[in-house]
Amino acid sequence: MLKPWEKIRWILRGLKRTFRFLSNFWDDRYYTEVDLDRWRSLGAKIGKDVQIQHLKVDERFARLLEIDDEANIAEGTNIVLHDSSLNNIFGEACPVKFGKVRIGKATYIGRNAIILCGVRIGDYALIGAGALIVNDVPDYGVAMGVPAKILGDTRELKEKQKKQIEEQENSPFRFLRIKRWHERHKIMTNDEVEEAYREFFDKVGW
Ligand SMILES: CC(C)(COP(=O)(O)OP(=O)(O)OC[C@H]1O[C@@H](n2cnc3c(N)ncnc32)[C@H](O)[C@@H]1OP(=O)(O)O)[C@@H](O)C(=O)NCCC(=O)NCCS
Repeated sequence: MLKPWEKIRWILRGLKRTFRFLSNFWDDRYYTEVDLDRWRSLGAKIGKDVQIQHLKVDERFARLLEIDDEANIAEGTNIVLHDSSLNNIFGEACPVKFGKVRIGKATYIGRNAIILCGVRIGDYALIGAGALIVNDVPDYGVAMGVPAKILGDTRELKEKQKKQIEEQENSPFRFLRIKRWHERHKIMTNDEVEEAYREFFDKVGW
């Protein structure tokens, strides 16, 4: 049986978690909607169910940007729709370049990617965090690095992920691919990582 002050603490903790959960949800919607309104009002063509947060775009050229339905663009991504660098150095010999950027349907773009003008990113593509995209990425392409190279296919990546999850049938956190991280980084044991995640879920929440 809980003591009265324990009951109060229990209720307060529940309220705090509920509030934190709701405020996260509200913040995400808030950032996405403010960003969407802003870029649409400046002429960008943005489809349905697109997620963006703090997207950086050169706003005078926003009409050159097209983002297809369900694309998800992580925070800090930088889309460059014009290039006056050479013009600034060499003057008229090198005119300012402009180019449309098209981001395909259900594409995921990792945090802090930079996409230069004139590039088309195909449908269902995946761009790694910090990638510098200077060339087109095909449908289902996985592009990573600086400058980015096409290093895979999202359909194959999905199969690979499924296999890794199956291999870790007994782990409560198997979906986080802890084994793979541990093998590569060798910083924490699997038990330590699982404990850290348990703490994370209990205290911070998802
Ligand atoms: C691209 C990405 C999805 C790859 O995931 P993954 O298939 O699980 O990749 P792994 O961690 O197994 O790494 C596979 C290889 O790619 C390399 N790699 C992974 N991410 C990379 C990146 N962003 N840039 C360059 N190389 C990368 C790894 O070093 C590894 O190389 P190796 O095989 O030579 O050791 C992921 O690393 C990524 O960048 N996700 C975006 C994260 C993000 O921005 N999230 C926003 C908040 S949700």
